Amino acid sequence: MNYQKEVVILLLGLYLIFLCRGASGDQISGKGIINLAHRQTKWTPLVQTSANLSEVTSIRSFFEFRTFDPEGAVFYGDTKDGEDWFVLSLRDGIPEMQIGKADILVSIKGGRKLNDGAWHLLELRNEGKFVVLEVNNQVELVVGLHSKLAEDELTGNIRLALGGMLVDKQKLFHPFEPEMDACIRGGHWLNLSTTWDTDSTWEPRPCFSEIKKGNYFPGTGVATFNSSDLPGLKTEEAGITVEIFGSWTGTTLSLQSTGFEYVLGELEGNKDVKEVQLGLKEGSERGIPPHEPAALTFTILKHSLVVNSKSELETESLDFFSMWKKGMLLTFGGVPGDSEVAKSKQYLRGCLDKILVQGQVIDLDRALYKHSAVSSHSCPTEAMNELT
Ligand SMILES: *[C@@H]1O[C@H](CO)[C@@H](O)[C@H](O)[C@H]1NC(C)=O
Ligand SMILES: *[C@@H]1O[C@H](CO)[C@@H](O)[C@H](O)[C@H]1NC(C)=O
Ligand SMILES: *[C@@H]1O[C@H](CO)[C@@H](O)[C@H](O)[C@H]1NC(C)=O
Repeated sequence: MNYQKEVVILLLGLYLIFLCRGASGDQISGKGIINLAHRQTKWTPLVQTSANLSEVTSIRSFFEFRTFDPEGAVFYGDTKDGEDWFVLSLRDGIPEMQIGKADILVSIKGGRKLNDGAWHLLELRNEGKFVVLEVNNQVELVVGLHSKLAEDELTGNIRLALGGMLVDKQKLFHPFEPEMDACIRGGHWLNLSTTWDTDSTWEPRPCFSEIKKGNYFPGTGVATFNSSDLPGLKTEEAGITVEIFGSWTGTTLSLQSTGFEYVLGELEGNKDVKEVQLGLKEGSERGIPPHEPAALTFTILKHSLVVNSKSELETESLDFFSMWKKGMLLTFGGVPGDSEVAKSKQYLRGCLDKILVQGQVIDLDRALYKHSAVSSHSCPTEAMNELT
C-alpha cells in the first residue's frame, strides 16, 4: 500500500508548510493533509477512492477541516455508480447535506458556521435510516429518510470523493459553487485503509500552518473577471471603484477589451514607468511599495482611470462605462494569457486581504478564470516574509 510521506518543511524558519506527496505521484493516503483548493476543474473531485461494501466495517467517517471559504464541496459519497449519492458542502459557511436516494432528494443545512479558519472535527455516520453530522463531537444535523422504493441491502461498491462530486451537478437539489479553499487532515473514511486516486491535474499544495483571511497570490498567475459579472455603475459621477487592501508586490490589476489594455503595475520610486497600453499610446503603470499594508482605490470614470485620486489615463475616445457593461476583462495579479505583455509583467505576490468592487467583496471562486496556485480565501500569515 502506498502510504504518503508527510514532509514537514520549515520555511524561512517562520512557518511550517505541510506537503503531502503520494509515493507514486497519483495516489495519496486519506489520512494525511489534503488541500482542496487549487483544482483546475470545477466539479471533478480532487481525490476519490472506492471500496467493496462487503469490506466496509464502519459507516462512519471523520476528519479535521479548516477553511475561511463560505461555499464549496467538501465530502461526497455514492453507491450503485451514483444512483444513490450524498454530498456535504458549505453554504454561507454553514454545513449543508444533500442526498439523492431512489425517488428522494433531500437538502438540509444547519449548525454553526465553520469558515472561521480554525480546525474543526467533522464526523458523518449512518444510524439506520438517519445520517448524522457531528461537529467537534456535538450533533449538528440529523437527516432521516425513507423510501418504499429504496432497497436496503448494501452490496456493490461505495465511492468517496473530496472537493467535488462524481454525479452530474444537475442532480443537486440546491446548486452551489463547488470551489473550496480548505484543508483536510487526519481523515478516517469508513475505516478503510485504501489509498485515494488524485485528479489528473493534481499537484501537491501546501496547507499553511497559520492562515488568515485573504486572497493569496504566490506570484505565478492571475484571476480574471468578466466585468459584466461584477457590480455595475450606480452614478456616473462616482464611477466604478475597485478597492484593494493588502500587502503585495508586482502587477496589481489590468483591464482588457478589444484594442485596449491597461496595466496597473509596480511603482518604481515614485515616477511613472513604461507605457504598457496597446491600441492607445497612452497610459502608465503605478504600484505599491512592497511589504507594507496598503490600500488602493482604482476608479473607472467614463473617460478616465484614476488611481488613489490621481488621474492615470484620460481619453475622450473611449467610454469605459459601456465597455464595463458589455464585458471587459478585469484581471487581478497580472495580465492574462501568454502574450509578450503578459510575460513581461511580474505577477502579483502577496496577500490581498480584501477586494471590493462597488463596495461589494469579490470572491475569486467566482472568477471567469483563476490560476490554480491562487488561493481564494486564505493567506499564510507570514506571507510577506516570503516576498523578497
Ligand atoms: C477498523 O479497522 C480496524 C483494523 O482494520 C479494526 O480493528 C477495527 O475494529 C475497525 N473499526 C470498526 C469500528 O469497524
Ligand atoms: C464485493 O465482494 C463480494 C464478496 O467478497 C463479491 O461477491 C462481489 O463481487 C464484490 N463486488 C464488487 C463490485 O467488486
Ligand atoms: C463577458 O460577458 C459578456 C456579457 O455577458 C459576454 O458577451 C462576453 O462574451 C463575455 N466575455 C468573456 C471573455 O467571457
